[in-house]
Amino acid sequence: MEPIYEGKAKRLFTTDNPNELLMEFKDDATAFNGEKKSSFAEKGRLNLDLSCLIFDELAKQGIATHHIKRLDETRLLVKKVDIIPLEVVIRNVVAGSLHKRLGYDEGHVLDAPLVEYYYKRDDLGDPMLTLDHIAILDVATDAELKTISELGLQVNEFLIGFFGNSGIRLIDFKLEFGRDTDGSILLADEISPDNCRLWDATSGERLDKDRFRRDLGDLLDGYREILGRLQGQS
Ligand code: TMP
Repeated sequence: MEPIYEGKAKRLFTTDNPNELLMEFKDDATAFNGEKKSSFAEKGRLNLDLSCLIFDELAKQGIATHHIKRLDETRLLVKKVDIIPLEVVIRNVVAGSLHKRLGYDEGHVLDAPLVEYYYKRDDLGDPMLTLDHIAILDVATDAELKTISELGLQVNEFLIGFFGNSGIRLIDFKLEFGRDTDGSILLADEISPDNCRLWDATSGERLDKDRFRRDLGDLLDGYREILGRLQGQS
């Protein structure tokens, strides 16, 4: 196993199979493009528990993902994909940077889901991109973008109901996509409270990484609450 990439919350290693990679979930948490950093014992396992549970449900819905199989508490075998350098953010409710961009109150419900694209470039601070920017950068074709936004909205529709059945509101989340060896688009990366905003449906309590970003409470208590509720349901 050779390390080939280390991100803020995950590491990637090669395997004996050139078409497969090993993804390790770390206990580290960062915010504000790495300016705020900490580590929480067990966060890697909790996020992998949550991400596997969610990806399994999405696979049942016919959504193609990079997951192959979980190897242990923090490691996952995935298909090697060519990651499209876009962070695809889907929003149902105003929060975070959309509150700052539009001036609407946090909690304002959008009439329809909003899809935004950010350039996955830490050195640039992951700037937001228009479709014309994406065309100039040539990081995805029009057809791929159409597939990506359709898949994103399909994932959103399913997850609103899935979390909703556990008394959790899906406010917004971030997805990443990759190209398989035959060029087809697969859902990649992870879906966890690191990259979703999840609020308790009754109290509005933040159960996601905003607890760390904004010092709103013990991070892992929120993650354990989400996992417990979803496990109770599935
Ligand atoms: P934002 O409101 O800060 O733009 O975040 C929108 C969603 O994207 C939120 O669920 C958190 C997630 N996100 C990431 O997964 N990675 C990031 O680097 C950022 C800034 C947000």
